[in-house]
Amino acid sequence: MQVSIAMSVRKPMCTANRRAVRVKRIYAPAPMSWSKPRHFDSFKVLSGVSLGLVLSWGCGTSDGGPGGSGGASSGGDSTSAGGAASSGGAPSGGAGNESGGATTGGAASGGSDPSGTGGGSGGGGSKACNEGTKLTTRLPCLLSETGLFEADMVTLGEGVHPFEPQFKLWTDSAEKRRWIQLPPNTKIDTSDMDYWSFPVGTKVWKEFSRDGVRVETRLIEKQKSGSWYTVAYHWQEDLKEAIAVPDGLENASGTPHDVPDADACLTCHSQQPDKVLGFSAIQLSHAPATDDPLEWTLERLITLDLLTEPPAAPPSFSWDELDRDMFGYLHANCGTCHNPKGSANSQTGLDMWLKIADLSAPVTESSVYKNLYNVNIQWLDDAPPAEKRVAPGDFENSAIYQRFVNKEADFAMPPLGTEVVDPDGERLMKEWIAAH
Ligand code: HEC
Ligand code: HEC
Repeated sequence: MQVSIAMSVRKPMCTANRRAVRVKRIYAPAPMSWSKPRHFDSFKVLSGVSLGLVLSWGCGTSDGGPGGSGGASSGGDSTSAGGAASSGGAPSGGAGNESGGATTGGAASGGSDPSGTGGGSGGGGSKACNEGTKLTTRLPCLLSETGLFEADMVTLGEGVHPFEPQFKLWTDSAEKRRWIQLPPNTKIDTSDMDYWSFPVGTKVWKEFSRDGVRVETRLIEKQKSGSWYTVAYHWQEDLKEAIAVPDGLENASGTPHDVPDADACLTCHSQQPDKVLGFSAIQLSHAPATDDPLEWTLERLITLDLLTEPPAAPPSFSWDELDRDMFGYLHANCGTCHNPKGSANSQTGLDMWLKIADLSAPVTESSVYKNLYNVNIQWLDDAPPAEKRVAPGDFENSAIYQRFVNKEADFAMPPLGTEVVDPDGERLMKEWIAAH
């Protein structure tokens, strides 16, 4: 039976969800059109629905079996997108069950009933993606409608280019592929080389596979209003379609991978002026990662004249390899929030976002080094047992290390998106701190 299989793969604890609630308390994400994150109080009033979804998601939804299957079957009665959702809903019935029906069922019902019990009542055709989380209203229900692939769901769509950031975000050993599409005849505004601004119409996708199973593909899109919209699409077992899951999905496709809900995307992606986190001058200053001529690197963007103010050449690090690896790792995994334009920075003053100007000077002169090395911790609430952000030669007494390795603690960093400590990241941090 699907239900019992699903129950057996569910996580025993709901720590991830509890942490998600804490994250929202700390700094509620803003819709992408906002320049500053909203404070929790106003967030509660304005986005009660989404907050409710997170609060009720996971722990208490053991009745998800009926919800998940209800969502799938009623979707089958409806037309267009709902029908498509249901055709995928059958193979993914297990997924609906795994998540307590909060997602497959919830998406079919427009996300209005996260408990899973109402999944069956809702399956309202194209409503699937147009209700529930407001932030997703303007993205298609199906990945096949986004332009990433041709109809075969394999060949890349017109104008879609793969890319790879040189420093990657760790997501519990998930494998990722990434693509971008700029509207025809547009350029990226690079007048601030540390924070690029993308033309209206830009779409960026990121695909996640876990343990060899392709689970989800995420999309962020800058629409006419200048606002960005986000959602993740959950792949159906036959890999012919992926369906929007605005409410997220726990333990998706029988893997331990959790698909974040659309609000959770913003917790990270709203921490930068233009929301794109891994397609930047620093991240693309590397030799092509593949032999695909379509892959975009900074050098190719310069050659193709796609930047408004192209640099003469890609910036390169003058640092030794250990410094480069360490600060590159922190850039991708921590600098997302801990950067001068992010809300976590205004709370803690912590800055791990590399700037181009840093790269040509000695590492000890860089803004990130000066912000960490031998600096007392500033955030004393729920703080780890460490006096310094980085204590010279002493990783045990370094807050960045303690927060990184204690995944169950309230002070765990990053506060969402991962449940397993990255062994390479841990090794790197220890080695770097020991050497300095
Ligand atoms: C824990 C923080 C975090 C969360 C939560 C998160 N992302 Fe990201 N995302 C990142 C970072 C950091 C990168 C760049 C580094 C990389 O790709 O390895 C990224 C990259 C991406 C990219 C490629 C474009 C880019 O910005 O580099 C897309 C598309 C994307 N994310 C979509 C989403 C969507 C949609 C969601 C929610 C369903 C989401 N992300 C949730 C941190 C996050
Ligand atoms: C999704 C946003 C986000 C990401 C990503 C993130 N942090 Fe944080 N961090 C915060 C917030 C918010 C706080 C303040 C509240 C708290 O402690 O929970 C914080 C606080 C901290 C502090 C306390 C600073 C001080 O001076 O006391 C440290 C150290 C820290 N983070 C390290 C890290 C490290 C290391 C990473 C990457 C491995 C990371 N963070 C990734 C949001 C984030």
